[in-house]
Amino acid sequence: MAREARKIAVIGAGNVGATCAFVMAERKLGEIVLLDIYEGFAKGKALDMSQGGQVLNYDGKITGTSDYEDIAGSDVVVVTSGFPRQPGMSREDLIGKNAEIILQVGTGIRDYAPDAVVIMVTNPLDLMTYHMQKVTGFPSNRVIGQAGILDSARMTHFVSEAIGCSNEDVQAMVLGGHGDTMVPLPRYTTVGGIPITQLLDEKTIDSISKRTASGGGEIVKLLERGSAFYAPGSAAAIMAESVLNDRKRMLPCSALLNGEYGLKDVYIGVPVILGKNGVERIIELDLENEELDSLQESANFYKSQLSEILGY
Ligand code: NAI
Ligand code: 2OP
Repeated sequence: MAREARKIAVIGAGNVGATCAFVMAERKLGEIVLLDIYEGFAKGKALDMSQGGQVLNYDGKITGTSDYEDIAGSDVVVVTSGFPRQPGMSREDLIGKNAEIILQVGTGIRDYAPDAVVIMVTNPLDLMTYHMQKVTGFPSNRVIGQAGILDSARMTHFVSEAIGCSNEDVQAMVLGGHGDTMVPLPRYTTVGGIPITQLLDEKTIDSISKRTASGGGEIVKLLERGSAFYAPGSAAAIMAESVLNDRKRMLPCSALLNGEYGLKDVYIGVPVILGKNGVERIIELDLENEELDSLQESANFYKSQLSEILGY
C-alpha cells in the first residue's frame, strides 16, 4: 500500500521559512503548508514555489494560508515566525515581541497539530524553544530547537577555508546556546577523522571559534536588513528530514536537559539523535572542565533570562 504523503507546516513565510520550505520541496519530503499572518504573502510564496516544481523536478503540494485549520494533521511543524535581528541588536533584544508571537503560534499548533514534532527557529532560539514547549504542553522530545547545525556549519566553513579542504570532510561541533555564549569544541571538530587540534595552530583555532560565535552578527552587519536565512532555513529542513524519514541522525540541537551535563529544566544545544519521535536520545560528551564550565555558563545565562524576562 502506498504511504500517505507526510505533511509539514512552516509557520512564518519570511526569509528563513520560505528557504526551509524550498529545501524541503526539493528533497521531496512531503506536502508543505506555509502559514503567515499575511495570507497573500504565504499564498504568493507557495504559488511561486509550486511553479518552480517543473523546473527542479519536485511535484508535492505546496500551499499558503493564515488559517491554523490548514495545518491539521501535520507530522512536523517548523516555526520561523518572528522578528529577525537588525544591526546593533542581540538575539535577546527580540524576546518580548517574539514571545508574544510564539504564544499565539504555539496555541495554534497545540489545537490543530497536537501530534506534530515542532522544530523551532525563532530567536532567541533556546528561550523561544522552552516557551513553545510550555505553551503547547507537548512532551519535550517533540519540541526541539535549530541552532547547532547552523553554528557547526559556520565553523565547518571557516575550518575548510583555513585548511584549504572540502567542506564535506569537516565535522564541527558547537554546543551551548545560540548566542554569544555558544561553545565551539575544537577537540570534537575533525577533518577526515583528524581533530583540527592536529591540523591548525592554537591562534587560528581561537579565531575560528570567535568568528563562529559571532557568525550571525557578521551576516546581520553585512546585510544591513534582517539576518541570515539560506544556511538557517536549510538546517531546519535537515532536522525535519531526519524526523520525517526516521533517519536517526546525530545532530547538535537545542533540547530540554534533565540532569545531562549537570543541567536541568533548560533548553540548550547538545548532540541528539533525531528520529520519528523527535529527540530520541541526548548524547553526553566527555567534556574537559573548561568546556563543561562554558556549557554550564551558557545554560545558566538562559536560565536567568527565562526567570527574569519570561517569568518561568
Ligand atoms: P522574516 O521577517 O523574513 O520572516 C518572519 C515572518 O514571520 C514574516 O513573514 C512575518 O509576517 C511572520 N510572522 C510574524 N508574526 C507572525 C505570527 N504571529 N504568525 C505567523 N507568522 C508571523 O524573518 P526571518 O529572517 O525569516 O527570521 C525569522 C526568525 O528566525 C527570527 O526570529 C530570526 O531571528 C530567527 N532566526 C533564527 C536562526 C536560528 O539559527 N535559530 C537563524 C536565522 C534566523
Ligand atoms: C543567525 O545566527 C541571527 O540567529 C541568526 O544567523
